[in-house]
Amino acid sequence: MRTQFADGLPRAQGDRAQLQQVMLNLIVNAIQAMKDVAEGARELQISIDAVPSEGGVRVGVQDTGPGLNPESLSRLFEPFYTTKPEGMGMGLSICRAIIEAHGGRLWATGCEPQGALFEFTIPAD
Ligand SMILES: Nc1ncnc2c1ncn2[C@@H]1O[C@H](COP(=O)(O)OP(=O)(O)O)[C@@H](O)[C@H]1O
Ligand SMILES: [Mg+2]
Repeated sequence: MRTQFADGLPRAQGDRAQLQQVMLNLIVNAIQAMKDVAEGARELQISIDAVPSEGGVRVGVQDTGPGLNPESLSRLFEPFYTTKPEGMGMGLSICRAIIEAHGGRLWATGCEPQGALFEFTIPAD
């Protein structure tokens, strides 16, 4: 796991427990996505930087799993959408609801050569 936290970030206000829940969901999803990847190729990267154009901070959770196919990309945030045998499919829809309630955005993109990147913004002072 690698972290990349920018210096001098603005202060963001939010519900600590809810934002921890968002991070936990994204991190667990990333770990689950990498379960079939060779151990040496599993990388989780967490980053935070300021986004002055949006007046806030941006958090990224990136993995080196299989990534997102077009079907997944369009349905990820739907309640009950899951591709896991024991999955509930509620995690990402709850994450998005929490971030939007904080006035931010949550979105996903595929990475090259492999993996997924989930990012969200939170307004800052
Ligand atoms: N990091 C990721 N890499 C690839 N696919 C992902 C990732 N995170 C989520 N997904 C896809 O989105 C679906 C929905 O995720 P989520 O809402 O957290 O529900 P669950 O984890 O219970 O399946 C997952 O089943 C999976 O198909
Ligand atoms: Mg999940």
